[in-house]
Order: sequence, then structure tokens, then C-alpha cells
Amino acid sequence: MISRHDFEADASGMNILSYLFKSSLGRKYIMAASGLALFAFVIGHLLGNLQIFLAPEVINRYAQFLKDNIELVWGARIGLLGCIALHIWTAISLSADNKAARPVAYADATPPAASMASRTMLMSGLIVFFFILYHLLHFTVQVEWVNGVEKTFHSLKTADGHHDVYSMVVIGFRQPLVALCYVIAVGLLCLHLSHGVGASFQSLGLKNKAWGPVIDTASKVVSFLIFVGYASIPLAVLTGIVGDSVAR
Ligand code: HEM
Repeated sequence: MISRHDFEADASGMNILSYLFKSSLGRKYIMAASGLALFAFVIGHLLGNLQIFLAPEVINRYAQFLKDNIELVWGARIGLLGCIALHIWTAISLSADNKAARPVAYADATPPAASMASRTMLMSGLIVFFFILYHLLHFTVQVEWVNGVEKTFHSLKTADGHHDVYSMVVIGFRQPLVALCYVIAVGLLCLHLSHGVGASFQSLGLKNKAWGPVIDTASKVVSFLIFVGYASIPLAVLTGIVGDSVAR
């Protein structure tokens, strides 16, 4: 475990910012802090999206609220982009450092106690990154050729002339292949979180013997609930539980 004392002792005499970026300890801190910030976004975004189960007006009002507070949204976007960039850079550079420190791979590179989630962190993280790129094209930029429907999402309007996000999500997830990709992607995201959240607490020195197992179990349970929450949306649309009011 990295203690704050170790960190401060190592960083003494060096510019703290350059220590943070250059040392592997500092990069672990950055990876953990940016990861936890992204985790908070994932929970907030899920709570916003679950409003689709209430009524079309509820989620549309929420989407309109975000559009009306564009400075807030751009602040969050810039923060998110920064966190994503730092998280990916630290993950790749720490993994390259680990490889360089062990030029000859072990015959069996898998430590017996390592979970599947921990062994696949880089892979699940990269797939989630490509999913986010697709997702932005799908629902934020609303590029027609990625949605699998012969229609632009930009033209979907509510009775009062605002963007109809409810219909967009319903029409988007009526495409079984698209819905399936979302379910797989959020599954990988939650596999990533199930190990990453606990590991972040460890890197930040916030885990001790007593609380360590509690944090690890809580991180797995919350990740599973996040999976159920996100996956329930495409599945509810595909099964017709959500979206009755949207014309086929
Ligand atoms: C069932 C799953 C999901 C649904 C229904 C959904 C829905 C949406 C919608 C409707 C938007 C566009 C909001 C608007 O412009 O009005 C959006 C944006 C976004 N979503 Fe999702 N999302 C899902 C999963 C995810 C996941 C798993 C992530 C991240 C890992 C994510 C990250 C984002 C990001 C970064 C944006 C852009 C926010 C912005 O810049 O305004 N979404 N999502």
C-alpha cells in the first residue's frame, strides 16, 4: 500500500507536479484519482438515464435542463476529457514500465490469485474507450450512419419543439445489434470497475486491513448494480417494456 508518508518522503526536494507525472507512484495516484472521478460520472449518468423508466417527459426535461445549462455541461465535458486522457496515459505508461522491468515474461504470466477482472484491465479499458467514442457519435453527435436506422436523430422533436431524447434512445435500442453492443460494453465497463474501484482506494492509501475486504466487496457489488442499471435500458426497450408511445 502507498502511504501518504512514503509519497511525501519520495517527493521531497522535487517539484511535486513533476514527481506526480514522472514517478510510478505519482502516476498510480493520477490513475486512481482520475478513475474515481470517472466512476462518479458513470453513477451520475446512470441515475440520469434511469429516468427513462418514469415517463418520456421526465428524461426529456432532464436533457433540456442540461442543454439550458451549457456552461455547466462544458465544464463537466472538459473535466471528463482530462480524466479520460490522464487515466489512459497513466495506464499505458505504467504497463510499459512493468514490461520493461520484466523483459523476460514468466512462463505462466498469470499469478494464481489474480482475478479475471484484474488480468484484463488494459483490454477492458480500451474496449470501453472505443465504446465511448461510438456512444458519442450515436447519441451526442447523432451521426446517422452509426445508428442502424434510416433516419436522423436530430429530427426527433417533442410537442414543444425540444430534442426528443426519449424517442432517440428507444429508436436507437430497437436495433438488436446496437442494444447487444451496449450490453456487452457495459458488462466490460463493470468488470473493469469491479477491480478498478478497489485498486484505486489501495493506490490512494485509503485501504487498511480492516476496511480492505469491505471496500473490495462493495466495489464488486456496486459495479454489478451499475451493470444491471445500464443493461436494463436497452433490454427494456428490446422487450417493449419501455417505448410504447414511440411510433415504429
Ligand atoms: C444504456 C446505456 C446508456 C444510455 C441510454 C446513455 C444515454 C446517453 C444520452 C442520451 C446521451 C446524450 C445526452 C444529450 O446530448 O442529450 C449520452 C451522452 C454521454 N454518455 Fe451515455 N448512455 C449510456 C451509457 C453510457 C456509458 C456506460 C458511458 C460511459 C462509460 C456513457 C458516457 C456518456 C458520455 C461521456 C456522454 C456525453 C456527455 C456530454 O458530453 O454531454 N454513457 N448518453
